[in-house]
Amino acid sequence: MIKIGILGVGTVGESVAKILEANADIIEARAGKKIVVKSGVVRNLAKKRDTSIRLSDDPLSVVDDPEIDIVVELMGGVEEPYRLVKQALKNGKAVVTANKALLAYHRYELQEIAGDIPLMYEASTAGGIPIIGALRNGLSANHIDSIQGIMNGTCNYMLTKMIKEGAQYDEILKEAQELGYAEADPTFDVGGFDASHKLLILASIAYGIDAKPEDILIEGIENITQTDVAFAKEFGYEIKLLGIAKKVGEGVELRVHATMIPQDSMIAKVDGVMNAVTVVGDRVGETMYYGPGAGGDATASAVIADIVDIVRGNHGPMLGYKKGLESGLKLLPKE
Ligand code: NAP
Ligand code: HSE
Repeated sequence: MIKIGILGVGTVGESVAKILEANADIIEARAGKKIVVKSGVVRNLAKKRDTSIRLSDDPLSVVDDPEIDIVVELMGGVEEPYRLVKQALKNGKAVVTANKALLAYHRYELQEIAGDIPLMYEASTAGGIPIIGALRNGLSANHIDSIQGIMNGTCNYMLTKMIKEGAQYDEILKEAQELGYAEADPTFDVGGFDASHKLLILASIAYGIDAKPEDILIEGIENITQTDVAFAKEFGYEIKLLGIAKKVGEGVELRVHATMIPQDSMIAKVDGVMNAVTVVGDRVGETMYYGPGAGGDATASAVIADIVDIVRGNHGPMLGYKKGLESGLKLLPKE
């Protein structure tokens, strides 16, 4: 039996616990072992919750518990999870995280500390879409020419509702928060920062790029008005917030910004909380990955996939590469 401890039993943490119980038979068959949640950690023990997990407000009760095999970090933030994930790895525990902000700042140090201990993060990027697995495994024979797409479910949900239904920005942001799509601080979504965190993770796997959000161009959707939306519609375009990583000569360009896209292109048809990412490899050509980019169950699906992979020994080094793998390929200065 494998015992897991969950740091953060909120939207995603509750879904992880529920799916592990509801789909226990199929998950055990695939992992080869029974997987149970031993305990979880929250900030506010007084809050009413829809879970039967034994809860504490002391993260060390999970991280230092000798009976726990896998620590699942779903609390959000950067410095506190960094400290706890490091401690869990030092204690020899495998770690699964959905925390892209943590990885945007500390992925290489964590990879170094983890060494051969599994540190998995499929849910950090594009919610339920297995894009990390595709890049790390499915496309490993390729030099990657570009990665681009819709990487934030909240923004895509908001833009879709604004364009198709004339919804107001503030109302629709509130709805995205209620549905569990938005970050605890939604500025990360609408400001483009969350998409930049995901782009940096993907660029690390594809190119070994060691950059931080501050090093790349990031624009969000806060300044998009109903007038912009009306013009886009009139001229046959959709507005999408895109994350773009592109090889240009000896460099890699990384940027996040809203883009006008012709209505008949595939990416323009990606509506609501859905994400879609196109990856072009030098041998495979263009590939595209589509699915729910946020939400408790969709994200938990990716978290549990990592847990199952760890249990059956199907894991490699976190990013696959050390920094600067594709030697000579440098991050181009932001414009
Ligand atoms: P959430 O609903 O806000 O849940 C966070 C949980 O962590 C809450 O239970 C909170 O406790 C607990 N927590 C936070 N800080 C803590 C601390 N210092 N000590 C103890 N417990 C703490 O967030 P979420 O939406 O589940 O997201 C969790 C992580 O997954 C984030 O890194 C997020 O970026 C990532 N993610 C989310 C989604 C999504 O669609 N929601 C998708 C992909 C990735 P309280 O309940 O007491 O406040
Ligand atoms: N807030 C994020 C989004 C969650 O809306 O895409 C998924 O990473």
